[in-house]
Amino acid sequence: KIYPVILSGGSGTRLWPLSRAVLPKQLLPLVSERTMLQETALRLHGRPQLMQPLVVCGNEHRFLVAEQLREAGVAPLAILLEPVGRNTAPAVAAAAHYLRAIDPEAVMLVLPADHVITNVEAFYAAIQRAAALVGEGALATFGIVPTGPETGYGYIQSGKAVAEQCYTVDRFIEKPDRATAQGLVEAGNYSWNSGMFLFRADSYLKELQEYAPAIAAATAEAVSRDYRDLDFCRLDEAAFEACPSDSIDYAVMEHTRHAVVVPADIGWSDVGSWSALWDVQPHDANGNATRGDVYLDDVSGSLVRAEGRIVALVGVKDLVVVETADAVLVAHKDQVQRVKQIVDHLKQEA
Ligand code: GDD
Ligand code: MG
Repeated sequence: KIYPVILSGGSGTRLWPLSRAVLPKQLLPLVSERTMLQETALRLHGRPQLMQPLVVCGNEHRFLVAEQLREAGVAPLAILLEPVGRNTAPAVAAAAHYLRAIDPEAVMLVLPADHVITNVEAFYAAIQRAAALVGEGALATFGIVPTGPETGYGYIQSGKAVAEQCYTVDRFIEKPDRATAQGLVEAGNYSWNSGMFLFRADSYLKELQEYAPAIAAATAEAVSRDYRDLDFCRLDEAAFEACPSDSIDYAVMEHTRHAVVVPADIGWSDVGSWSALWDVQPHDANGNATRGDVYLDDVSGSLVRAEGRIVALVGVKDLVVVETADAVLVAHKDQVQRVKQIVDHLKQEA
């Protein structure tokens, strides 16, 4: 049995001003009429072997998450609530402890709530290839062909084939600097870590115990002391607050000797910026992606989003214009990585 574990805890600051702490990217309808969380929950819904999802999110988002799942017609196995954010290693660990208690052989499919996958059949096929390996304790990641020396991703060097389209991981390098990333892309045998994983709950906990025992212990305590509302499972506040903060990539994947990589040509994007969103959206004949009440005259290559007011552009190209109730962003499409700095600046002023 494979249990999807949907991570819905990020803040998506690079999609400001649409994505905010109270309403982050994964809870917004970014690429379709459904929110990213709903898309994630529905993507593999009802496939053989796949169980109802377990969702891990911040306490403050519990009603939005529950309501969005209900609206999508997905009944979660449980919604685990984090009293504070401790990054992905503890979130996955809490889910692993929870699942192992109800099914000692539980296999977890870790899915960030904010990714786009256009080729679902290919993704499902990759999951099945990975599933054939996890019985022996493998921690499978899904590898994406890199398109450039991005520094925001993990890089995986594949080793020898262990099955068809499955390889051992020789090295896992999380978020290398620019020069290193450039070298890895040129080397050719590296793929990006998609941030989605498949492994048995007990395999993950074993590796966590080895490489980050404090996280394993704190999350075990946070789950054992949980109490259940009607719909939610709260992680114990004191125990979870005491847990070190780290990502699954740094805490486990860089160290484990049991990693395998399954190449996945699945139309993947983590929609990490406005230009990435433009990439995955449908374009008009001039390469514009628009949403809402937008008027364009002699405009090309632009992403324009109007949430409430009419937005008109004339004689410009390659812009990102995002209008919301209390903030407006105008940026060159090639410079949108700097949006994160706007958010940092605004936080300092607040
Ligand atoms: N529940 C929960 N709690 N979810 C979290 C938390 C948390 O504390 N922190 C992050 N998440 C969720 C985010 O919402 C996102 O969906 C996912 O976990 C990954 O976290 P990011 O913060 O977006 O990670 P990243 O983008 O820097 O790096 C990861 O993803 C890349 C691909 O998108 C790594 O796995 C990289 O190796 C990978 O290349
Ligand atoms: Mg991310």
